[in-house]
Amino acid sequence: MTAPVVDATLHHQPVGASDRVAYGFVKLLRFCADTFFAKRYGHRAVVLETVAAVPGMVGATLNHLKCLRRMCDDKGWIKTLMDEAENERMHLMTFIEVCKPTAFERFVVVAVQWVFYLFFFGLYLVSPKTAHRVVGYFEEEAVTSYTHYLAEIDEGRSENVPAPQIAKTYWDLPDTATLRDVVLVVRADEAHHRDVNHGYANELIGLPQTAVAPCPPHVVLEPTWKAAA
Ligand SMILES: [Fe+2]
Ligand SMILES: [Fe+2]
Repeated sequence: MTAPVVDATLHHQPVGASDRVAYGFVKLLRFCADTFFAKRYGHRAVVLETVAAVPGMVGATLNHLKCLRRMCDDKGWIKTLMDEAENERMHLMTFIEVCKPTAFERFVVVAVQWVFYLFFFGLYLVSPKTAHRVVGYFEEEAVTSYTHYLAEIDEGRSENVPAPQIAKTYWDLPDTATLRDVVLVVRADEAHHRDVNHGYANELIGLPQTAVAPCPPHVVLEPTWKAAA
């Protein structure tokens, strides 16, 4: 499996106050992440993937509840957002094999999850378009971070270790796959999430849809009853 080509420069130009708030908020978080992690890309990936896996599940939950209340179809949004959350969790499960978080980073993950979940839930309730725009901008930053990670590997500052088995199975990578191959597919996933979320934000404000970067094929995680059957 070869990772799809990614346009790492793609950026949604903020339109209106909601977009500017979303962009400013994400840039502030980027500054915090850069200060905290500097060039420790493995640690950065582990901690930030625990945050990245939250919005999809919040969006899926609130769209599910909305569809129940309004007794209407979800147009595929719920499954899309749940898939995004699951995909982000698989990024976490992959990077945890590459880099073990410190005790302090584990504490940060627990503390940030409480604050971020509640914040994002509130934001999505008040303004789903801003919430999806925030995720779109998060994902732009994720694409940039993984592009930097690739440069670290290519320039020999991060060791290009063999890919973890979980990644080889999930993305159907060859036995010879390395960390570089993993970062390439993860970055392609982030580009896909970026375009899906900017697309949802656009749809909510009546802007035209834009192209969505292809998602690298991966194994579909099955329910426990199917695995047991
Ligand atoms: Fe991710
Ligand atoms: Fe993502």
